[in-house]
Amino acid sequence: MKILVTGGAGFIGSNFIHYYLNAHPEDQVVNFDVLTYAGHIESLKDLEGNPSYRFIKGDITDAQAVKDAMQGVDWVVHFAAESHVDRSIIDPMQFVKTNVLGTAVLLDAALSNKVKRFHHISTDEVFGQLGESDAPFKETTPYSPRTPYSASKAGSDHLVRAYFETYNLPITISNCSNNFGPFHDPEKLIPRFITNLLEGKKVPLMGKGENIRDWVYVYDHNKAVDIILQKGVIGETYCIGGEEKTNLEVTKKILEILGLGEDRLEFVEHRLGHDLRYAIDDSKIKALGWSPEKSFEERLEETINWFKENEWWWKPLKKDRPNVDRSAQKSYG
Ligand SMILES: NC(=O)c1ccc[n+]([C@@H]2O[C@H](COP(=O)([O-])OP(=O)(O)OC[C@H]3O[C@@H](n4cnc5c(N)ncnc54)[C@H](O)[C@@H]3O)[C@@H](O)[C@H]2O)c1
Repeated sequence: MKILVTGGAGFIGSNFIHYYLNAHPEDQVVNFDVLTYAGHIESLKDLEGNPSYRFIKGDITDAQAVKDAMQGVDWVVHFAAESHVDRSIIDPMQFVKTNVLGTAVLLDAALSNKVKRFHHISTDEVFGQLGESDAPFKETTPYSPRTPYSASKAGSDHLVRAYFETYNLPITISNCSNNFGPFHDPEKLIPRFITNLLEGKKVPLMGKGENIRDWVYVYDHNKAVDIILQKGVIGETYCIGGEEKTNLEVTKKILEILGLGEDRLEFVEHRLGHDLRYAIDDSKIKALGWSPEKSFEERLEETINWFKENEWWWKPLKKDRPNVDRSAQKSYG
């Protein structure tokens, strides 16, 4: 089996390649990634020289490069995207280009190449936001994206489904909630907070930390993707979720694990279009035999330990990008 993984140098994609080659050492993985600011090829340096792994530097919006990379591929697992909501508010066009056009280019090449499966990685953010007592998102929830990021991901999901309905391209889609774990870019909430605290800084929490997110450990997400590849039904969507926590609960837990006090907290303004709550009903993927292996707390502790032990990975990223903490500059309390 030869698998083309797009965006394999990113957070979830790099964890997926590690997971997949460990679970299926007989298969071949080709990582196709253009290495934007979010692509960290060093996350895969342990695979250098591994005959089952190959890296191609290429852009998913480049039809010729995609066509070449797709030769002889059985499955495509499509992670590549612009993924940071704050950046989508500043530069929405880049999100439309990568997430919508890039997905269309891949679908076209997958169809011409007769790939046996195109698995599209999407987000629960396409469903919009929930009120505190609303039922969680599930596969049949209508789309209602509220940011350029989630709208561009929604557009890509619709294209993937259209290629199934119109051309019978064998697709599956997964809509997952917020991931955390190793190799998570320090511009995102959990790694930003962990690394800020390890550097002796404060953590910028939006609003009063009341926003609720559903957290999945990246390993469990990737295990779900593998299960969908092995046992999923063609044409189906699967929602993947974990545990619901307010941002304040997550922050307090990080402080507690690190033995630090709430004086390290700093409240900052909400971002534009800040969704209140996401939650997932994951009964459909659970029916395929999936469930998270450990609790959120256990995984958070493992993640903190990973960041403590892998400063070589995250320190240069924070140094090169001082604006990662720009939300802290708008502090009001
Ligand atoms: N991070 C989450 O919590 C989360 C949750 C649900 C779904 N998702 C989805 O999972 C996927 C991966 O997310 P992530 O957090 O790992 O993202 P990421 O930003 O860490 O990684 C994205 C990767 O895609 C690559 N890329 C970007 N544009 C490209 C292009 N034009 N051509 C080729 N490669 C390109 C980047 O270089 C990077 O390696 C995305 O599709 C995202 O929407 C993420």
